[in-house]
Amino acid sequence: MDQAPRQDPPAAAAAAGVLPRAIRSFVRREGRITLAQEDALQRLWPRYGVEPGGAPLVPAALFGRRAPLAVEIGFGSGDHLLASALARPDTDFLGIEVHRPGVGRVLQQLEQLDLGNVRVLCADAVEVLRELLPPGEADEVVIFFPDPWPKTRHHKRRLIQPEFARTLARALRPGGRLRLATDWADYARQMLEVMSAEPLFANAAAAGGAIPRPADRPLTRFESRGLRLGHQVSDFEFIRRSP
Ligand SMILES: C[S@@+](CC[C@H](N)C(=O)[O-])C[C@H]1O[C@@H](n2cnc3c(N)ncnc32)[C@H](O)[C@@H]1O
Repeated sequence: MDQAPRQDPPAAAAAAGVLPRAIRSFVRREGRITLAQEDALQRLWPRYGVEPGGAPLVPAALFGRRAPLAVEIGFGSGDHLLASALARPDTDFLGIEVHRPGVGRVLQQLEQLDLGNVRVLCADAVEVLRELLPPGEADEVVIFFPDPWPKTRHHKRRLIQPEFARTLARALRPGGRLRLATDWADYARQMLEVMSAEPLFANAAAAGGAIPRPADRPLTRFESRGLRLGHQVSDFEFIRRSP
């Protein structure tokens, strides 16, 4: 097993000159990490992990081929990321998640499923999209159930904000799609308001609101909890316009 000392990936990012942000969409609480997840992080990181350095990411070099690129932000336990990668072998998937146990779990599954079309970054997706992913590189960006930050004083931590909408527009190629889901009515309203105000996106729903639940979105722990609490789930899809 590779016993090289492991530097916390975000610390490595900071050392590499990625600018710190004042307000983040997450609080780094590691929680419980299993031995198997820790082992996967040590052993499989060289195969599937991407260290954010100062240089732009080159997807063709990361995946060893040129293929459509889907980026999933905050993939959690990875249910959607893994199911999509299995179902769409001709697409490459870049998963970005700050929670190390989730990343460890996905690495274990990637090995078991022997998937070659997934790479994982353990870093702040806002910084990755803003500073490391070249413009127009993504064909699809997925953000399912971003942390809702329900208290008003925490709304500034929500991912979907006007500035990040512009960052998402920069990352997507014209015609590329942004997929969002949330079980917080108030965040659904914010998503719709922010994305509708960004001229570089068009709502894929003819009526300008939510879309029906996509068949390929698996039920995750977060969604199940929302449904148990009686929350209504909203799905959105926005298409990147040509400038
Ligand atoms: C509520 S969970 C949803 C997880 C998963 N998408 C699902 O539907 O089950 C939100 C996830 O986003 C991650 N996250 C929050 N902000 C992030 C950021 N700026 N970059 C990467 N991951 C982030 C959190 O660590 C968490 O795992």
